Amino acid sequence: MSVFSAERLEQVEAKDKTKRFEKYTILVVDDEENNLQLLQEVFDGDYEVITAHDGMEALDLVQHHNDREQIRVIISDQRMPAMNGVDFLEQTIPLLPNTKRIILTGFTDVDDIIDAINKGQIYQYIVKPFINEDLRLTVQRALEAYQLEVQNLVLIKELTSLNTSLERKVEERTDALQHSLNSLRNFYYYISHELRTPLTAIQPYIRFLQRGMKCDPPTESQTSHLLVIEDNTKRVMKLVNQILDLARIESQELPTHLQSLLIHSLIRRSVKQLHGLFRPEVEVVLDLLEPEAPVLGTWDDLETVVDNLISNAAKYTETGTVQIKTEIWNSGLRMAIQDTGVGIDVSHLGTIFERFIRVDQQGLAKGTGLGLHITKALVERMGGRIGVTSEKGTGSTFWVWLQLAP
Ligand SMILES: Nc1ncnc2c1ncn2[C@@H]1O[C@H](COP(=O)(O)OP(=O)(O)OP(=O)(O)O)[C@@H](O)[C@H]1O
Ligand SMILES: [Mg+2]
Repeated sequence: MSVFSAERLEQVEAKDKTKRFEKYTILVVDDEENNLQLLQEVFDGDYEVITAHDGMEALDLVQHHNDREQIRVIISDQRMPAMNGVDFLEQTIPLLPNTKRIILTGFTDVDDIIDAINKGQIYQYIVKPFINEDLRLTVQRALEAYQLEVQNLVLIKELTSLNTSLERKVEERTDALQHSLNSLRNFYYYISHELRTPLTAIQPYIRFLQRGMKCDPPTESQTSHLLVIEDNTKRVMKLVNQILDLARIESQELPTHLQSLLIHSLIRRSVKQLHGLFRPEVEVVLDLLEPEAPVLGTWDDLETVVDNLISNAAKYTETGTVQIKTEIWNSGLRMAIQDTGVGIDVSHLGTIFERFIRVDQQGLAKGTGLGLHITKALVERMGGRIGVTSEKGTGSTFWVWLQLAP
């Protein structure tokens, strides 16, 4: 929907052009009868002229006029008994806010002029004696200015109302989208949860079959088939757990309650548990800060972060070392996991933290491409930062910066 149409502008202008042929009303105020007559003659024929001899009479005329809006211009003499021109014009402002006010002054009195501009919202002052044609032109210009201002007011009003309805629509759509998004999250959370139950139940049976009966050990091909089943069940289980993590991250709008935690025990435990993932040619080196500095985080999130980064280093390193180092850096704790693995081409470095992004690592490992995305979200939720430097063929360093606990 366009906010404002050119067509509408033309309609407003056209409406006003027809009005141009109507006779507008000019109110002329002067205490001298001769002047009143003269002014009437100047405008007669072109405009409807109404006259008053002083401010009080003029105000009365305005108040009781049956079509006040038609009074588009007021011309008033400045020097009048009882109420001067500026004071009179000032009192017409609330009655006729858009009307153009012109003051006639017989003296080039600077104070009068300043007063006229400041108090009376005067469109123009004219020094007497005036030239008829000049006065006619001034009134014409005043009428044009009036029309322009009124048109602008109409357009601004329409624009404001369009804006309001547009904002309301955006709000409604955002609410609807948020609602769909929540339903979608609930849906994949529910599905993952439901998948995990049968998967958990299958795993002990696989182990049971692998062990075999005393009297009936599995054959070689049965063992290899069971390995395939076990491997694939683990992969599905991992994916299900990652989707649950993702749903957990995305649904938590509120910041997590952070605690003071010691990360070294987590690192040691993770290295031990993931031992089987490292190739025999790879040496794991720990270079941990002493004494250890506590960081701000949550236990589950830190565990997932450490596990994901260490398992990546294990998966993508064929030979050499994986070094895990902690140090104080920039008033926080920096954990760096440096490997001598396959490395990542610079063209992929910008995208590896996005969900489902995998880089072909010479068929090294099969993953889902969710690990780093989840890791980054968790680190940032704990107020930390994550980054990587890497060189294809040489190795990578993934680092995590965490806030120190106070
Ligand atoms: N230490 C590393 N060395 C080389 N490449 C890496 C390393 N860590 C991550 N990568 C690359 O970044 C990609 C994304 O990593 P991420 O951990 O998100 O996914 P994944 O390991 O493929 O799968 P999973 O979701 O199971 O962890 C990987 O596919 C891999 O190509
Ligand atoms: Mg991974």
